[in-house]
Amino acid sequence: MDLHILDHRLRVTSISKTGLVHFTHPLIKLIFLRNRSRCKFLSLTETPENYTVVLDEEGFKELQPSEHLQVEGSTWLTLNVVSNGNASSSSQAVGVTKIAKSVIAPLAEQNVSVFMLSTYQTDFILVREKDLSVVIHTLQEEFNIYREVGGESVPIHQQDTQNGLQKNGKDVVKATVHPVLIPENQFCVMSLDPDTLPAIATTLIDVLFYSNSLKEEPHPSEDIQCVKFFSFSLIDGYISLVMDTEAQRRFPADLLFTSSSGELWRMVRIGGQPLGFDECGIVAQISQPLADSDISAYYISTFSFDHALVPEEDIVTVTDMLLKQRKDPAC
Ligand code: ARG
Repeated sequence: MDLHILDHRLRVTSISKTGLVHFTHPLIKLIFLRNRSRCKFLSLTETPENYTVVLDEEGFKELQPSEHLQVEGSTWLTLNVVSNGNASSSSQAVGVTKIAKSVIAPLAEQNVSVFMLSTYQTDFILVREKDLSVVIHTLQEEFNIYREVGGESVPIHQQDTQNGLQKNGKDVVKATVHPVLIPENQFCVMSLDPDTLPAIATTLIDVLFYSNSLKEEPHPSEDIQCVKFFSFSLIDGYISLVMDTEAQRRFPADLLFTSSSGELWRMVRIGGQPLGFDECGIVAQISQPLADSDISAYYISTFSFDHALVPEEDIVTVTDMLLKQRKDPAC
C-alpha cells in the first residue's frame, strides 16, 4: 500500500462561538470564492464548544489574529493512504477502521500525536511536521511512502532515523481512558459537486453562521440529547459534509449525495475535558477495537474533542465495547 505525505502545511485553529461574526468575511471567501484565495485545504466544524478551522498556510493568512481565534502552535502535515487494489485485508469496512492497525496503532506506539480528519472521500491523518522523520521510519515497513511536492509524488527511500525513534520510542505511557458521550442524533456523511456549491450557498450560510439564532423554533428532539455537530470541508477540490438529519432536511434533497447504501451514523464523542494536542493513542484506543470487530468508522478530531461516527446499527455493540474498555482498560 502507498502512503502519501501531501503538500499541505496546515494550522489547527478554533474560533469562539461569539467571535464567529469577526470571521464570516474570510470564511465566506474561503468556502465560496475559491479563485480568490489559494487555499486548498479547508475544514470547518461546528461543535457546541467552538468552531474548529483546519486550513493550509494560504488560508490561514486570511484569518486576522484576534482574541476569538486560538491557534495551535505547530505546523501539521497530512498523511493519506492509497490502497492499490490488491490490499491483503478482506475488510469491507470504511474509514479509520481500514488504517487502524497499519497507521494509527504504530504511530501511537511511537508516541506520535495525530489529529484525524475523515471525509466522505478519504481519511486524512495529520501529524506534526517535527514528527515527520519518526512517522516515516515507523511506517516505511508497511508502506511505499511518497512525498508530494508541487503536484508530483516523489518516493521516499528507506531511512535510518534511529535518533528520531530513540527520542520518541522510550517509555510508552499508558493511555488515559477518556469519558465518552453518545448523543442521540443520527448523522450522514455526504458530498457535493463543487460546481453546485452556489445552489446550496444560502442554506450553508444559514446553517454555518446563523444556526444559533434558531432558538424561537423549539427543536423537535429537544428532550432527547442531541449535540450540535456540523462539518464542511473543501480539500483539493472535494467537498465533504457531515451533518445530522435535522440539518440535512434544510438542504435541497437532490444536490447532496451519499454512498448508495445511504447509511446513517451515530456519534461517539471522546473527551470530558478538552483533549489538547500532545496526548497520543486516543484515536488508537477507539479505532483498534472497531477494527477488531470490522466496524466502519469516520473519525473527526476537533480543537477540543474527538468524534467517531459508527454505523447506526452498530452503536449498541460499540457502546458495550467502550464500556468494557472503561471497566478494564487493559483489554
Ligand atoms: N492526539 C490524539 C491522538 O493522537 C488525537 C487528537 C486529540 N485532540 C484533539 N484536540 N482532538 O490520538
